[in-house]
Amino acid sequence: MVDIGSGPCFLGYTARTVCEIEAIGIDLPEQPGDIAWRVARALGQTIIAHRIEPYQPIPNLGRRFNVATIIAPQFYRKADGRFWTAVEWGDLFGQIFSRYLVPGGELVLRINANKRGNGSDMYDHADVVKAVERVPGSRRDDWFFSMPRPA
Ligand SMILES: C[S@@+](CC[C@H](N)C(=O)[O-])C[C@H]1O[C@@H](n2cnc3c(N)ncnc32)[C@H](O)[C@@H]1O
Repeated sequence: MVDIGSGPCFLGYTARTVCEIEAIGIDLPEQPGDIAWRVARALGQTIIAHRIEPYQPIPNLGRRFNVATIIAPQFYRKADGRFWTAVEWGDLFGQIFSRYLVPGGELVLRINANKRGNGSDMYDHADVVKAVERVPGSRRDDWFFSMPRPA
């Protein structure tokens, strides 16, 4: 599997050690004193350094996976502060389908409500949900979304 926005790679570590599934993470380049990278290294996980941005090509990993995950991503906003549009999310999903997943593979997304103290959402999920709904066969369970790679 490939985990996009992997943080300290807890999901990949669990996949590898409990389920014997090899997992590669993708996350922002390491910063000085970066705890997530240190933890990932201590757990023996591999992270590819890359910033996910609208319409920018995702890194070539030289192989394909059964599952791609995006769990609690923080790449909702563009440099100008606006939220990603449904078309921009759709482009990322399309790249993941065509470049990372085997036929029959699945993209799993869990969006993070990330409530502020007053209960309001930090993120506007309308467009990411719209992009998911455009994928044929997509399913939703609470804030988990599952998208099969289109045939
Ligand atoms: C809330 S954490 C979730 C980490 C992990 N998926 C988990 O559930 O434990 C969000 C992660 O997304 C990463 N991230 C934020 N913006 C990113 C971007 N533009 N490209 C790649 N990763 C990004 C952060 O560095 C952070 O590790």
